[in-house]
Amino acid sequence: MKITVTPTEREFDCVAAWRIIGQMLNKPASVIGLSTGRTTGNMHRLVGEIYTAHPFEASGITFFGQDEVTGVSRHYFGACYAMLKTELMDALSVKEENFLMLPTECDDFGRACRLFENEIETRGGIDLLILGLGENGHLGFNQPGCPFDSETRLTGMHPELEVRIRRETNTPPEKHLGGVTLGIKNIMQARRIILVAKGANKTDIVKRMLEGPVTTEVPASILQLHPHCEFLLDSAAAAGLSTGR
Ligand code: GLP
Repeated sequence: MKITVTPTEREFDCVAAWRIIGQMLNKPASVIGLSTGRTTGNMHRLVGEIYTAHPFEASGITFFGQDEVTGVSRHYFGACYAMLKTELMDALSVKEENFLMLPTECDDFGRACRLFENEIETRGGIDLLILGLGENGHLGFNQPGCPFDSETRLTGMHPELEVRIRRETNTPPEKHLGGVTLGIKNIMQARRIILVAKGANKTDIVKRMLEGPVTTEVPASILQLHPHCEFLLDSAAAAGLSTGR
């Protein structure tokens, strides 16, 4: 396991941004998966700033989101589509056909999930997947208890997350919210993964993810078994790990 700990949040964002830029430069036809949330916003904006200051050929890169909120328009500011577009796609001028997102609203989510997986496969599979970490160890919308062989699918939304998203997005109570996500099996098929976690609210779960048993109760613990996963942490998130980090 490769564990990288940065002394500050700013350096955390910087290292993550350069990992993404490095992938884009090393393989101009890369397929790169991204996560939304408090952890990844700054690193996305930094990638955009670096690209704007030092433009390079990026038209062959495919980006996708690992999960999406359902029940809202994708243009709604809490939708992953809108977040990734604002945070990064616009700065990189990524064409719509190279920005793959699961739908927020759809008559047949099962079909949409298979199409999404097939499109990623057709483009060569996932070269780099940046994963955020839930405070209960979730990856995407794969909550504790979900099987390790799960594939891309519609899910419910964890009640605490729903409260947060409703608050952050002002969604009225009568509107049903859910999620659609890459499964753990799809995640583990990525050639390279970077799990990103920062802040004191992640200290406990980072320790359980890295030093506890591999268990479906902590979905992110499966990453201990991935051959090319880097765990990028700031010092606050890494504070609970055994000495020597
Ligand atoms: C949500 C998202 C995930 C994200 C996670 C961490 O559950 N569905 O994609 O990785 O939260 O979010 P944050 O970085 O805000 O803690």
